[in-house]
Amino acid sequence: EKAGYDHFMLKEIYEQPKAYRDTLEGRLFPRYPWTYLPELSLTPERLKQFRNVHLVACGTAYHAGLVGKMAIERWARLPAEADVASEYRYRSPLASPETLVIVVSQSGETADTLAALREAKRRGAHTLAVTNVVGSTAAREADDVLFTRAGPEISVASTKAYTTQLLVLYVLALHLARVRGTLPDAEIEPVVRALGELPEQAESVLQQAGEIRGYAQEIASREHLFFLGRGLDFAVALEGSLKLKEISYIHSEAYAAGELKHGTLALIEEGTPIVALATQPELMSKTASNVREAMARGADVLGIVGAGSPSLSERQLTLPDTHPALMPAIAVVPLQLFAYYAAVARGYDVDKPRNLAKSVTVE
Ligand code: F6R
Repeated sequence: EKAGYDHFMLKEIYEQPKAYRDTLEGRLFPRYPWTYLPELSLTPERLKQFRNVHLVACGTAYHAGLVGKMAIERWARLPAEADVASEYRYRSPLASPETLVIVVSQSGETADTLAALREAKRRGAHTLAVTNVVGSTAAREADDVLFTRAGPEISVASTKAYTTQLLVLYVLALHLARVRGTLPDAEIEPVVRALGELPEQAESVLQQAGEIRGYAQEIASREHLFFLGRGLDFAVALEGSLKLKEISYIHSEAYAAGELKHGTLALIEEGTPIVALATQPELMSKTASNVREAMARGADVLGIVGAGSPSLSERQLTLPDTHPALMPAIAVVPLQLFAYYAAVARGYDVDKPRNLAKSVTVE
């Protein structure tokens, strides 16, 4: 059932190109109206009434929510917030009938996420579940549901569920933007085209697995490392860091690259490993200067950059060229592989990390 792969996690990482195709199937058009989400009960009139969006989830799904927040704000020009579900319900959230509350959950059974969903409903918000499991509690209880169509995810560490959540949130953000008239067709078109190219690009990133494995083996004996990035790259850094901790038990921290100098730079010493993401053209020079500060203190940097970027570090991985907003969907793939190979090198049971369950049904 692992189809020749050593672990479910690796199989699921390699299933991503297919999962991307399945997720996008029938949901995009190369021309107006661009998006097609017939499963939504929301009429264009209702979509125009929303004043704000809350994205609520746990763990990896929360990291997808962070990317969704940025896409919705940028394209649909709606104030959006992403919250960890276990915090959301206790902070008296400003959710009203004019709020779209999106809960993101692979399983659709996470207790904290369900509690947040119920809190949002209690406040009269319109709730939308983005989930992988048909018939799950979140799918049944939310007012609307968009399925991620990733196929079964067996490994505790989430991979294809996360990337397909990103894709659904991108399509939803475009849908909101189109209906609300906040993004001209000339700006929607390149995003729609780039979404269609993501499966092949994910494929080409997977071909760089050898290089990533080498780096993972080198750092496997280290006790801590950093992931750095700005904007969308910071959201991806958080996910890369969680993945690594979860299965390799190497401590890591994700930092907004510009924040490092406000305290954490003190932890950088000779040989400290840093994975630095710089996929956003307009942030490249700023991130590069933060990385130089770390290198001046002896950090050992692996750069992950977009095609055509100037060099960030001696050792770097270049991602295929896509729309900058979509970079997370390919930039996370090397980080998944990195966590996987580091855990394998340390001899751990990748699919069943200690202390963790696939679905967390207690609050
Ligand atoms: C990390 C991971 C967890 C889950 C989280 C939410 O790899 O799998 O952080 O993402 O427990 O689970 P779902 O998405 O099922 O609500």
